[in-house]
Amino acid sequence: MKRILFKRIALLTLLTSIILPLYSPPVHSQQSSLSEDTIYVDQQAIKTKYMMRNGQLLVPSVFMKHTGVRVNWNDAYQSVVFQFEDKMVSLPVGQKYLDEYSNTTGIWNRHHMLAETIWHNNQTFVSLVDVASKLGMNVHYDAKIRKTFITSHIASAGNIIRRGNPHKKLVALTFDDGPDGMYTPQILDILKKKHTPATFFVIGKQVEAHPQMMQRIVSEGHAIANHTWNHPNLSMVTTSRLVNEIRSTQRIMESTVGRAPDIMRPPYGALTKSDALVLQEMGMRVVMWNVDTLDWSGKSSKEILDIVKRDVSPGGIILQHNFHSEARVLDGTVAALPKIIEELRAEGYQFVTIQTLMDLR
Ligand code: NI
Repeated sequence: MKRILFKRIALLTLLTSIILPLYSPPVHSQQSSLSEDTIYVDQQAIKTKYMMRNGQLLVPSVFMKHTGVRVNWNDAYQSVVFQFEDKMVSLPVGQKYLDEYSNTTGIWNRHHMLAETIWHNNQTFVSLVDVASKLGMNVHYDAKIRKTFITSHIASAGNIIRRGNPHKKLVALTFDDGPDGMYTPQILDILKKKHTPATFFVIGKQVEAHPQMMQRIVSEGHAIANHTWNHPNLSMVTTSRLVNEIRSTQRIMESTVGRAPDIMRPPYGALTKSDALVLQEMGMRVVMWNVDTLDWSGKSSKEILDIVKRDVSPGGIILQHNFHSEARVLDGTVAALPKIIEELRAEGYQFVTIQTLMDLR
């Protein structure tokens, strides 16, 4: 799966660089102010920054990922490239046209747009109506409520999991952002003492920095999963960056502990429709959570325990963290852990890894 996806991206990138006709240097944008509004994509409300140009709505090119299309940057042509299935369009910065690749004829056709593609604040902005309609979507502006609606016709991915089987009294403890040298050992000590398995969603660069801690996690029987290399908000990055974040983290897990499971969790839970589809094509399952302890914000052990007891249910996925913090914001996490384990066990819950929780769905 991974290989096929990569070959396809590589091929299309190659095609873009070879076939894309005449390129003119980018025109720098005049000052435009950004506003924020909600745009509805397939009936989902999505907040985005935007600007107006020639009476047209311009959105950050990565916004289009919410419609399900892949968004990349072609450095050679300084152009934004949108792809969906066999459709591909390329929009050079500073130009008021797009080039559309025809799969049947193998040539690029140029179409004029209502507004040019521009650079602003290190981002590219594209004309929403031009791109959406060229990719076969419906765009509708409701003047009465002043809202824009897009219908993408692209099906959502089916690989996002928020909880386990609600009829089995199982629960999964999950710890994000490690491994580190400060909290990971304390958490592991408690889990060992309580004979409790957990799942660690690790950051690639943290695995690189703390390989022995990663090995300890695995040797003590816990599950691991991918939490990207650099912890970016994936909804804001290009498709190729998303793929690299996941692949590099899979590789360092594999080289450090000999395995890399097919499970990931996006930082901040932020993921577009396109990102989920790409991850699905890479064979990755996406695991969110349904009990948020908010421990990263420095909650006390009592506050954390109260949240868990209030929100837990059979099949629950509890979100906690294990990152280095000079301000010791995760002291509450460590102090709450033995109590969470004891109290949930007393209520009849059994602790399992994410893998087990999903296998029993
Ligand atoms: Ni995180």
